[in-house]
Amino acid sequence: MTIEPSQPIGVFDSGLGGLTVLQSLRARLPSEGFLYFADTRHLPYGDKPESFIQARAQHISATLAERGCKAIVIACNTATAAAAESIRARLAIPVIALEPAIKPAAALTRNGILGVLATTRTLTSRRFAQLVKSHAPNATIIAQACPGLAETIEAEGPGSAKVETLLDAYVRPLASAKADVVVLGCTHYPWVKAGIARRLLPETAMVDTGEAVARQLGRRLKEENILGGGHGQLRFAASGDAIQVGATLARLCGIRASVESWAI
Ligand code: DGL
Repeated sequence: MTIEPSQPIGVFDSGLGGLTVLQSLRARLPSEGFLYFADTRHLPYGDKPESFIQARAQHISATLAERGCKAIVIACNTATAAAAESIRARLAIPVIALEPAIKPAAALTRNGILGVLATTRTLTSRRFAQLVKSHAPNATIIAQACPGLAETIEAEGPGSAKVETLLDAYVRPLASAKADVVVLGCTHYPWVKAGIARRLLPETAMVDTGEAVARQLGRRLKEENILGGGHGQLRFAASGDAIQVGATLARLCGIRASVESWAI
């Protein structure tokens, strides 16, 4: 099957966290079209078994490919940890994955103390252990799992009282440990970047992966000769309540779009 440059790029996450990545993708590649799938029926991924996340991520990627996507971006650290390799093994199109920005964080730190905010599933994955071993073997890693945070950001909004309470619990330990770089290792967390920054020591750097993923996607599309041609169109689909996803989309990033309901 030939792939045309005009075909969209499939992007997915457990919910709307991946929109923080989509913003970087659209900024760098404005002439691409994107089809964003939110697996909101199964949000959050972060506390589910690895085998479940792997099966979902494989199924979603295969569906996006069948429905005409020319490349896939796994805009979710948790799904990457569970399924990136197996998705690549199954699909003939480029698959771009993202993972916590340990490498840039190790290059930035002055005191060698790195805080990492991510889901339980990401932090307990083999892939995360390998990432630390390869890129920050001498750093002190303060790995803070944040159960409840991703789904509360979506359900109640980034500035809600419940999000503030969760941030108190999850971010204060990083400040107490004197982390001078904090990795936002879940694509939902850039939505609460200001709240995280308020709880960290002044001058603490925060890193995420949106930009790096956008550069990598551009490189891969160019290598495959399928760069450009999508005219910037955007489509959204979700496995959960599509009306509710549309409302969250408008509230989080001001995008007004109809959301397709996919029973997958
Ligand atoms: N946004 C996802 C990530 O980057 C996962 C959030 C969740 O579903 O637990 O890890």
